[in-house]
Amino acid sequence: MFRRISFSTCLLGITVFIGGCGRPSADSQPAAASGGETDEQDAAQGDAATKPDGETASPADGRAPDSDSPTASVGETPKDAGPPEGASDVHEISLIGLSAQFPPLGPLPDAPVPADNPLTDAKVALGRLLFFDSRLSGDAGTSCASCHDPRLGWGDGQAVSRGYAGTQHWRNSQTTVNSAFLTKLFWAGEVPSLEVQAKSAITGNLAGNGDPAMIEERLAQIPEYVKQFRQAFGVSPPTFLHVLKAIASFERAELISRDSPFDAFLAGDTEALSAEAQQGLKLFQGKARCIVCHNGPLMSDEDYHFLDVPQQAVFDSDPLRQVSLRYQHFIRGVPEDVYRAADGDLGLYYTTKRDTDRGRFRTPPLRYLEYTAPYMHNGVLATIEDVIDFYDQGGGDDPNQSDLIQPLNLTEDEKFALAEFLYALSGDEIRIPVPELPEYQAIEFDETEPAAE
Ligand code: HEC
Ligand code: HEC
Repeated sequence: MFRRISFSTCLLGITVFIGGCGRPSADSQPAAASGGETDEQDAAQGDAATKPDGETASPADGRAPDSDSPTASVGETPKDAGPPEGASDVHEISLIGLSAQFPPLGPLPDAPVPADNPLTDAKVALGRLLFFDSRLSGDAGTSCASCHDPRLGWGDGQAVSRGYAGTQHWRNSQTTVNSAFLTKLFWAGEVPSLEVQAKSAITGNLAGNGDPAMIEERLAQIPEYVKQFRQAFGVSPPTFLHVLKAIASFERAELISRDSPFDAFLAGDTEALSAEAQQGLKLFQGKARCIVCHNGPLMSDEDYHFLDVPQQAVFDSDPLRQVSLRYQHFIRGVPEDVYRAADGDLGLYYTTKRDTDRGRFRTPPLRYLEYTAPYMHNGVLATIEDVIDFYDQGGGDDPNQSDLIQPLNLTEDEKFALAEFLYALSGDEIRIPVPELPEYQAIEFDETEPAAE
């Protein structure tokens, strides 16, 4: 049951960072992502987490999702989110409402860096070039930035993403801003780290469609890259593994957004949020129930939930989207009857093949939201206001939808306040100029530099 909330004492748990009445944010930091050694990357193939032969991947952390069970409801403590320390006092919990039961919102910690890929300036500079370099794709025509465009919130601005030449993608292109904090990447959490993700993006048939061996030969014909791989990693000629590590380093170092008005508010600047946005923050953690899933510094429980968002009509009109949808069903090894009946993205089901996981997606983080419309895995909701209306009506109408989603009965003023808060989660736009890419220049075998010292 929803309790009425008094905001007087603890500003709904937010003051944990200003005054201290909840669990320290460090408790809810995501663990460091695992490294990108090639032999760890077998789970990632294509933008699918499945090999074309149908072998399926495990959920990114190898653990079954659990906190969206039908019995979980507000007022009970979800399995993974124990009561915050210092909030064992029942009186205090009732005072601070829902937020006491979930990892509190808070400032982002430093992005985790895996032990086998320490950050250096040389790697970041190299990764910045590679992110924009279409020679990492099969026909040398598609770069990461083709679908993760700095001018479009580091996504591609479309409901469903463009695809590799001759294809259209089947999911919305996610922003790469703050991906460094995630331990489950992609809409259904299929891969565990930026390094594994980069391999999936470069080789996936709907994204880069690149062959690692071909990419290594291309890079070996670009003297500036040969030099930079040597400086950054001590390898010569360049290797595919180090391509992945450089791109991940760039994302970790430069694609971080933590300068939003909300972050300033968390740091103690009470003026940083308008009165409406502050009201929205209270709603987020109370009546609107967003905190149930969008919690912790990242504003994501990194768990999987079925919201039953509306179907994306583009699949009805665009044969290339149908091709991609069916192709994904096929290569992810779904049974014949499911393949024939399915008309949408099955989410976590592809990984687990459990019926109860159909339509479940990883809760996305919410910083940088202003720049990343349209929203949801199929981009079906065009604006932040549409998202709020969707939640207000209690999500979709599938009987298997998460019980954590309920009609909210928000007034128009409350919807406005909640939107003000969501807008306040975006800081300055991260815009970097398209770097000038180094040129090819034929290098014959006998001129190739010796291997690293
Ligand atoms: C053809 C378009 C396309 C290209 C090219 C592409 N991506 Fe993506 N990217 C997407 C789409 C679509 C998704 C969501 C896919 C999914 O959930 O299965 C995605 C997801 C991601 C994510 C996950 C974000 C999250 O919140 O989990 C990261 C990180 C990412 N891409 C980085 C890259 C990098 C690095 C490259 C280049 C090596 C790249 N992408 C190339 C379209 C593309
Ligand atoms: C039961 C868990 C849950 C609750 C409660 C919840 N969300 Fe979400 N949210 C999700 C999941 C899962 C998705 C992705 C769903 C999909 O794509 O099918 C999502 C997507 C979003 C998105 C789109 C982000 C993007 O990058 O496209 C926004 C915005 C959002 N939620 C805001 C909210 C707000 C505001 C509330 C409260 C009114 C809320 N959420 C409540 C789990 C939840």
